[in-house]
Amino acid sequence: MTKKPMYEGKAKQVFATENPDELLVYFKDDATAFNGEKKGTIGNKGVFNNKISTFFFNLLSEKGIPHHFIKMLNDREMLVKKLAILPIEVVVRNIAAGSLAKRIGWEEGRKLPSTVVELYYKDDALGDPLINQYHIKALGLATPEQVEIIEKYALQINEVLSAFLKEKKIELIDFKLEFGVHKGEVILGDEISPDTCRFWDSETSQKLDKDRFRRDLGNVEEAYQEVLYRLTGRRN
Ligand code: C5P
Repeated sequence: MTKKPMYEGKAKQVFATENPDELLVYFKDDATAFNGEKKGTIGNKGVFNNKISTFFFNLLSEKGIPHHFIKMLNDREMLVKKLAILPIEVVVRNIAAGSLAKRIGWEEGRKLPSTVVELYYKDDALGDPLINQYHIKALGLATPEQVEIIEKYALQINEVLSAFLKEKKIELIDFKLEFGVHKGEVILGDEISPDTCRFWDSETSQKLDKDRFRRDLGNVEEAYQEVLYRLTGRRN
């Protein structure tokens, strides 16, 4: 009998484990974009994202940033701490791209003079609208103290990842994080992968992320594999 996930998202399944404080995350090859309007699969994406996320969570451990990752179990599965996920998506941006480039009328690739942090309400039915700390307080999505912690971690994570990736000749354009509460503490959850980050080759500006899928640019699997290779020296 195959186990039934307790939660199934667009790219991952989440299973209960024998330990009530821990969950198993299974990374799928399914890809969606534009709030589920575009659907497809990316060969081996689940393996790449599991391994890339594992790499980044380990890097954050070295820097003392708390997160849900416990260990990688196999090519597609990791063990994580169980979180009460806060319904907020945190986006950090170094260079204008995607929805920000559209919203402020800047060309993609223009460097932002200072880092931008954005908060979105994680709600598929509403299309994840942009919100601010006042909406979060009024809607009771998180406390002001939790928002402060989330923004502090998000900026620290940006520093750690940007500096590390630069050495691998990758520019961190922007990325999305999710946080949750575990035993009363706010910690990082979800994944850090080409699904949730924009990575551009430092020299050629070639896109090494999900924009290749969103925009039908081709060589999607190869881009995910290239990120894994630059991080770990391994292609699988
Ligand atoms: O589309 P947008 O420009 O707002 O995306 C900003 C960053 O957040 C991108 O790196 C994108 O991959 C990520 N993102 C995400 N999940 C969403 C929305 C955006 O991972 N639901």
